Amino acid sequence: MRRLRVAVVGATGAVGRQMLSLLEERRFPVSDVVPLASAQSAGKRLSFGGGEVEVRALGPGSFEGVELALFSAGASVSREFCPVAAQAGALVVDNSSAWRMDPQVPLVVPEANLAAARTRPKGIIANPNCSTIQMIVALDPIRRAAGISRIFVSTYQAVSGKGARAIDELRVASERSLRGEEHAYQVFPGPMAFNVQADWKPAEGGYNEEELKMVNETRKIWGDPSIRVSPTTMRVPVLNGHTESIVVETTRKVTVAEARRLLSSAPGVVLCDEDRQPLPLAASGRDEVFVGRIREDLAVDNGLCLVVAADNLRKGAATNAIQIAEKLLLAAA
Ligand SMILES: NC(=O)c1ccc[n+]([C@@H]2O[C@H](COP(=O)([O-])OP(=O)(O)OC[C@H]3O[C@@H](n4cnc5c(N)ncnc54)[C@H](OP(=O)(O)O)[C@@H]3O)[C@@H](O)[C@H]2O)c1
Repeated sequence: MRRLRVAVVGATGAVGRQMLSLLEERRFPVSDVVPLASAQSAGKRLSFGGGEVEVRALGPGSFEGVELALFSAGASVSREFCPVAAQAGALVVDNSSAWRMDPQVPLVVPEANLAAARTRPKGIIANPNCSTIQMIVALDPIRRAAGISRIFVSTYQAVSGKGARAIDELRVASERSLRGEEHAYQVFPGPMAFNVQADWKPAEGGYNEEELKMVNETRKIWGDPSIRVSPTTMRVPVLNGHTESIVVETTRKVTVAEARRLLSSAPGVVLCDEDRQPLPLAASGRDEVFVGRIREDLAVDNGLCLVVAADNLRKGAATNAIQIAEKLLLAAA
């Protein structure tokens, strides 16, 4: 199989490091990897392919000969450099929010709408937000069978969703807190150890950006602007793995038994036994989305309750991006 030159933009970050290890783990045919980050990381060495690779500072000349560029360095970097990488001939898969709602950029979860990735006028494909990805993987089989009109979703998001510095800050703050010491938070807006908070800036109507992403991205992925999504997103002091509590209203009634049947054979889903619950600790390190605690809702007609857990750094970011690249570049090779 032909091997590809792959750039990882944001290689020193939480998602970027996961990208590098997944390229190895999934035996992606890499000829050479180009690890890119900010100028302050230039020269750092990262493990890859049984050896080490040297991080380079991202710049306009970074994408020469690159066939796949995986971006996870924030929206402003993506806005500037995704077009540069696409212009150089790379397939670009971006993890930031920069391009997700651009009508000329497909927003893709392979289990649900891979076909959308085949039309990419800008040469860029966007990965949805981590919370949206795991909700779509869990609900897509139900939507295909019975239609969905409304979703109520509450998230319990891990701190790794906020990047490498957030993981370090929770570890340090938790230890200090146990010793009865104060911690001056820098990454989080307030105490995160032993606490729960919505830590994003408010956007429209008191909703934060993360919540509005779940509404808009769900509609775009399913191509259905009429779907109503009621989101509340919260950060919990879990190191890795997002959990969601979902109530979904279907167009026709779906029994618990039918939902379990649909999910038991759904791609990318691990259906938990009835006496087990989806846990972020169990989902962490796995590529699948764990679904369980399926109940008939007591308040919503045609309503089903589910709990969903997934690794936000893997399926919520790096795995989803690499799966897209595998489907587009390797299936055709
Ligand atoms: N964490 C998640 O679960 C998750 C899930 C889905 C999507 N995302 C998205 O993925 C992106 C990265 O998230 P993360 O959690 O990996 O963050 P992170 O741990 O803070 O990593 C950020 C990365 O971006 C690099 N970077 C920052 N500014 C740069 C610049 N001006 N030029 C080049 N590189 C630059 C950093 O390099 P230095 O080390 O040199 O600063 C680092 O490699 C964000 O857009 C985020 O929204 C994250």
